[in-house]
Amino acid sequence: MSAKIIDGKIIAADLRARVAAEVARVKREHHLTPGLAVVLVGHDPASEVYVRTKAKQTEAAGMASFEHKLPADTSLGDLLAVIARLNADPAVHGILVQLPLPKGLDSQKVIDAIDPAKDVDGLNPVNAGRLATGLLALTPCTPLGCIILAKTVHSSLEGISAVIIGRSNLVGRPLVQLLLNENATVTIAHSRTRDLPKVCKQADLLLAAVGKPEMVKADWIKPGATVIDVGINRIPGADGKGKLVGDVDYLGALNVAGAITPVPGGVGQMTVACLLVNTLRAACAIKGIAAPGV
Ligand code: GUN
Repeated sequence: MSAKIIDGKIIAADLRARVAAEVARVKREHHLTPGLAVVLVGHDPASEVYVRTKAKQTEAAGMASFEHKLPADTSLGDLLAVIARLNADPAVHGILVQLPLPKGLDSQKVIDAIDPAKDVDGLNPVNAGRLATGLLALTPCTPLGCIILAKTVHSSLEGISAVIIGRSNLVGRPLVQLLLNENATVTIAHSRTRDLPKVCKQADLLLAAVGKPEMVKADWIKPGATVIDVGINRIPGADGKGKLVGDVDYLGALNVAGAITPVPGGVGQMTVACLLVNTLRAACAIKGIAAPGV
């Protein structure tokens, strides 16, 4: 048996095209150009790549992109002043501060300072709390992408047994809420979970978000299960260069799972596409017009 490969590249490209069509419509009908501001502090190489990709895809969707690159030794006060300016700027509908921040900067204080209406990362406690109480909220992008990918395999997630490995604010915790909203039966596992392989093997939908290369083995997976691999880990490759792998032993899992996301080319592709969705939704909400059709 070989699992169906869930092609994040194609699914994300389709989503980006639908966002671009809606952006064109709100520009035409409402004279609204959604704008996304991305703030990068320091020179983390992976973050620099992500930020470039975000800017390129924002512009490709017809939205305005504002990049703020600050030196690694930026003080908390100076960073908060940049956020205050973006909060007040009417051309900016989404604000994303790329994480992780350099050591010494308290990321929670920074996240707390972002206007919840512009918090396209969905990390501000107002949005996290709204999501947890079942209210309309801006929702973290990677978990949103996971749900979209899972729904390409299962038209409904109602009643499905979903196991999430990892309890981060960025992925694991919001995934619980999104899956509950879909009426899934949700288990959240983490580093202290007893007999993790056995817990995983109960899942019809297994979502791995731990940041440990190839930790999830083939014999942890229920035959036919859908596996969504959120991990992006760089390990040494055979040619001496780095190679990207997920949290799941992909080649082993291919023989057991019913469907699986590859790394790269799976969840990672969806994160930026969902950021565009959130920016468009935030812009419509701020302008007081109907929510977009994506
Ligand atoms: N770093 C890695 N993923 C993310 C993300 O989704 N949002 C932000 N702000 N930083 C990240």
